[in-house]
Amino acid sequence: MSTIAGCSEQVEICERFRAVRERTVELCGPLTAEDMMVQSTPEASPVKWHLAHTAWFFESFILREFLPGYKVFNPDFTWLFNSYYESFAKFPEKRLRSSFSRPGLEEVLRFREHVDEGIETLLGRNPEAEALKRIELGLNHEEQHQELILTDILHAFFTNPLRPTYLGDEAGSSIPRSQKRDLGHPGDMGLPIGFDGFEGGLREVGHAGDGFCFDNEMPRHKVWLEPFSLADRLVTCGEFAEFMADGGYRRAEFWLSAGWAAVQNNGWRAPLYWTSESGDWNVFTLRGEQPMERVKWAPVSHVSYFEADAYARWAGRRLATEFEWETAAEGQPVDGNLLDSEKLTPRPVVDSGHSPRQMFGDCWEWTASAYLGYPGFRPLTGSLGEYNGKFMSGQMVLRGGSCVTLAAHVRATYRNFFGPETRWQFSGIRLAS
Ligand SMILES: [Fe+2]
Repeated sequence: MSTIAGCSEQVEICERFRAVRERTVELCGPLTAEDMMVQSTPEASPVKWHLAHTAWFFESFILREFLPGYKVFNPDFTWLFNSYYESFAKFPEKRLRSSFSRPGLEEVLRFREHVDEGIETLLGRNPEAEALKRIELGLNHEEQHQELILTDILHAFFTNPLRPTYLGDEAGSSIPRSQKRDLGHPGDMGLPIGFDGFEGGLREVGHAGDGFCFDNEMPRHKVWLEPFSLADRLVTCGEFAEFMADGGYRRAEFWLSAGWAAVQNNGWRAPLYWTSESGDWNVFTLRGEQPMERVKWAPVSHVSYFEADAYARWAGRRLATEFEWETAAEGQPVDGNLLDSEKLTPRPVVDSGHSPRQMFGDCWEWTASAYLGYPGFRPLTGSLGEYNGKFMSGQMVLRGGSCVTLAAHVRATYRNFFGPETRWQFSGIRLAS
């Protein structure tokens, strides 16, 4: 199917559009249609829903507005696959997404093709700047959902008693054999944690330049930082196990009040995907169940903000603020263990790419900063103003991307955000003081 006659002026964005859209479908390669229906926690969505919703975004915010004569694929999809845009259309309750047995997968894939053809037609007509900006936003939106597909299927497979694996080992990936490393052998992956000092002072944070960013990364503005130090790698599974063995989940002294309540209410005694039947811990990953011996030098993942904060207090440290993190990351290459590496699991620092201090990739890092608008923050106009701004209460900022984030998607100014009890994300811990 080629509908891009006249697209040559927009070659770059055409190629990017195709690559992003194809990647979404490729990520579904190891999944069955039944896998794509599972919604194992209210926080997650079925993969089939992600496939439809990402097409809905392009149809709703770009094609309807900028492609004259565009015919919507199905008028019911306008509200059925709306996530949360109150000013755009009604939408079903999120927790009910797994009940959408109809439309079937084939119809959802046809919806995607219909939208692809529309966008490529639009790009062939030399669209106005606002349309191009929206397409770029739609692609970044789709990249976020690619990450969610992997995050959500990990939870789905963990809740399945058969514990299926997304990918068994790296033999099926496109990484050359010579570059492959094991998940980590005891004794050869460990580096003692160190701390690097940073000067304080008046610093600038927030996005600058012409490249894409989300509205919540602007405006760039000044902040005052006291001198601080940051750990030179993430906290490992082995280190977190020491916190547990020291009664970490039983000693209220380490926990914020709301965190201690979350421990009691949820029965937390380990990170989300840790299980123990015979006294030894196993960690469930997208590459299957791993014994602790194999992952003890890998960063601990799938902990809540409360667990990250409690660990830091136990260790005699604290979490960094988002601005300390950004100051340390500014100017560094985004070259860590990200989705591009196809490892799909957090790795020991010696195996996590070329990102100094493991700043990018492996795990999103909880910061001590509440998710708020920057001074002078202005959400996008219209319904798209609901993309980020309306969530600025009760959430904490995470930085740096994870092993299921694309390198091209994340940057030093990128602000992810989740509620402090959230554990189904690839969220880890960096110490600061
Ligand atoms: Fe979305």
